[in-house]
Amino acid sequence: MSTTQRYDLYSAEFRARTHETYSRMRDESPVHLQPGLNGETPIWFVTRYDDVVTVLTDDERFVVDAKLALTQDELRALDAASPLPNDDRINTNLLTMDGEDHRRVRQLVAKAFTPRMVERLRPRIQEIADELVDRVAAEGRMELVDDFAFPLPITVIAELLGIPIEDRDRFRVWSNSFLLPPMTDELRERFLRHTDEFVAYLDVLFAERRGEPSDDLVSALVQAEEHGDRLGENELYSMAVLLIVAGHETTVSLITNAVLALLGHPAELERLQADASLLPTAVEELLRYDSPVERTITRWVTQDTQLGGESIARGDLVIAVVGSANRDDAQFPDADVLDLGRAPNRHVGFGRGPHFCLGAPLARLETEIALGTLLRRLPNLRLAIAEGDLYWRPIPLFRSLASLPVAWDA
Ligand code: HEM
Repeated sequence: MSTTQRYDLYSAEFRARTHETYSRMRDESPVHLQPGLNGETPIWFVTRYDDVVTVLTDDERFVVDAKLALTQDELRALDAASPLPNDDRINTNLLTMDGEDHRRVRQLVAKAFTPRMVERLRPRIQEIADELVDRVAAEGRMELVDDFAFPLPITVIAELLGIPIEDRDRFRVWSNSFLLPPMTDELRERFLRHTDEFVAYLDVLFAERRGEPSDDLVSALVQAEEHGDRLGENELYSMAVLLIVAGHETTVSLITNAVLALLGHPAELERLQADASLLPTAVEELLRYDSPVERTITRWVTQDTQLGGESIARGDLVIAVVGSANRDDAQFPDADVLDLGRAPNRHVGFGRGPHFCLGAPLARLETEIALGTLLRRLPNLRLAIAEGDLYWRPIPLFRSLASLPVAWDA
């Protein structure tokens, strides 16, 4: 199957016209086949809302585990072509599992992330947000990512898991490596080194919790692993990695993208400042408007099928572009307009179906508290960088700013 690159979806320039590109794709070729990041592997990019929902909810036809879609020969060829040794230690996680295994592992952690459990964290999250603002309030400026949007969710997830917060900068380095596709020798070498370091770190942590369990999530997972039928050893390591990475990377970007969007829409910002009860719908709308997870994990197609008028073959790869679906006028009237009171708002910013974001209640609460605190405590908050100078991180799945300098009246 040979394809050409009709739409630029990976360059730095793409970031300046992301939504314009997706709008063209929805109009011209809503289920579109072209090479992925390596310039070779053909991938179907699905950009309309209805088709994205189909891909995410139909786990008979669209799966995350290649073993359910490929023949033995195809799997061997895939392994041989893989740029990395198949690292089961960190990749046996919810996002690589389907069906019964996925349900078994997900239910082990699901209880910790229900809205009711997460609501109990509200006072502590507020305290962390206030402490971070205390540190910079008198200065009149900060770099939002480093000073606020990163430390807030990483502190929360580290406390929930029971991991020392002093280690947060190492998590940041490791998680950065995992998210950057290892396309060069240098990135590959770095990825392998960081995987080894992360696994060695977890060896020590798990041994400590086995010896002295406490009431944190890591202790609960270690105990589940000891009853081998509930959680395998690779699943234990992979779950910890997934929770650390997913537990902060995405929320950092939601807080940052949300602040950027609000500062670019002064009337909406004023509306929110005047009425804090808008915060819950505002968070949903900001998530829809500039979705931090822009494209989901790749799905494999298990049978020849039709989608959006295209014939897709068994064994093909599909990416659901949720960041595009969230701007589809067929689902959201005036989809390019930011309306903090938008209702209904059935966005797919947290995905949909069996892999719907486990951490959604936590991310919602953290962002609500983060925005509420910034707007309440930092008068006349404004950008301290020209919009044209913004630098988006080169991570294909994410829409994530490297930094966002802001200022206020101290
Ligand atoms: C704004 C913040 C967040 C966004 C936008 C987001 C988005 C998403 C999306 C789109 C998916 C589905 C991926 C797919 O179907 O391929 C997902 C899955 C997941 N998210 Fe989040 N997420 C956020 C925060 C969090 C947090 C705070 C946690 C941590 C607890 C978390 C943990 C997970 C996990 C474990 C999965 C996999 C669930 C499964 O496969 O069953 N996420 N997230």
